Amino acid sequence: MGVDLSVSFTGIRFNNPFLLSSAPPTESESNITRAFEAGWGGVVTKTIGLHPVVNVAGPKTKFLRANTEAGTLSMNKGRAGALHSSWNWELISDKTLDWWAPRIRRIKQAFPDRVLIASIMAGSGSDRELDHWRTLARVCQDEGADGFELNLSCPHMDRADMGSNIGKDQKLCSVVTQVVKEVARVPVWAKLTPSTTDIVVEAGAAFRGGADAVVSSNTYPSLPLIDPDTLEFEMNVDGLVSSGGLGGPAILPQSIAKMAQMTRAFPDGSFSGIGGISDFSQALNYFLLGCGTVQVCTAAMLDHAVGPNVIKTLVAGMREFMEKREYQRLEDFRGLRRDRVVSHSEIRRPDDSGYQGGYEAEGYAPPPVPARG
Ligand SMILES: Cc1cc2nc3c(=O)[nH]c(=O)nc-3n(C[C@H](O)[C@H](O)[C@H](O)COP(=O)(O)O)c2cc1C
Repeated sequence: MGVDLSVSFTGIRFNNPFLLSSAPPTESESNITRAFEAGWGGVVTKTIGLHPVVNVAGPKTKFLRANTEAGTLSMNKGRAGALHSSWNWELISDKTLDWWAPRIRRIKQAFPDRVLIASIMAGSGSDRELDHWRTLARVCQDEGADGFELNLSCPHMDRADMGSNIGKDQKLCSVVTQVVKEVARVPVWAKLTPSTTDIVVEAGAAFRGGADAVVSSNTYPSLPLIDPDTLEFEMNVDGLVSSGGLGGPAILPQSIAKMAQMTRAFPDGSFSGIGGISDFSQALNYFLLGCGTVQVCTAAMLDHAVGPNVIKTLVAGMREFMEKREYQRLEDFRGLRRDRVVSHSEIRRPDDSGYQGGYEAEGYAPPPVPARG
């Protein structure tokens, strides 16, 4: 029997489990059209909102490269060296809902067998703001979107009731998910921020609110580096900088750590993995930890803006891997390594002596002396 790359994720059928994530590769009709022609199983649109958006006066994204010969890690010192990460401070789509609506319809009419997920975002500080989520959801699904991804994770919002500030508040994660679920006729995914103490808390809140899947990671809060020659941030406007987000290879280990926490806590939940994927070997980490789909941004941006070669490599890599191991579908290997991530004290010690994870039985943390009185 042949290899079948198609998957069913949250009830949606995908030709393959590889999606372009919400970002510049999915910011326009022409990009999304090119992405589907190149073979991506699905796209998540650049996040659509109702509030006005104006980006900074200067580049919105740059790529950090490690040059081992020169010993530099830099955005500006040439294209030589290995890609370390992307850094961006781009806001959500600067196009309006009215601009997006007919385009969603046209794209779905042209590619009925490809999946278009609408990424949406609004505030959460008032009933009016919560209503914006409902409006965005209603319009996008009426135009034919196959599902929603709630942006609870944009790391560069000043507003305390928006983006990753929602993702940092478990109550708001539940409330916003619930509000969209009230009107949604299609699956709802919650994209969480990795920037919290314990992402299992927010994932649980999203699931309690009715989320059909949890998505992670968005970019990690970070700053560009300071150039030692000029003493300026490598990316700035008039010398000023603001917190932005790190993506690409540098975040892969951190992102799979977050994913492992969630898939272990919710083994029956649906998860879409993002962060540092450019070929199948990286995507495989997410699948083996339990993800049913994965998404790509940085690698696609660097490959003709929508990743035509990246998707070919991903599909070929998955096919080759499955043929070699005689797997027929993703379900044959999804989650195979989820239970290998355990607490520290469960890892074998060199001899038979046990380790109690730092608790007092170990001997070097004496119990507190009870107060006399
Ligand atoms: C320039 C840029 C813009 C982005 N815009 C959005 C966005 O509008 N909505 C969103 O949910 N994520 C956004 N992201 C985050 C990506 O979708 C993705 O989660 C992140 O880059 C990690 O994936 P990667 O390592 O493949 O880049 C953006 C990322 C970049 C680099």
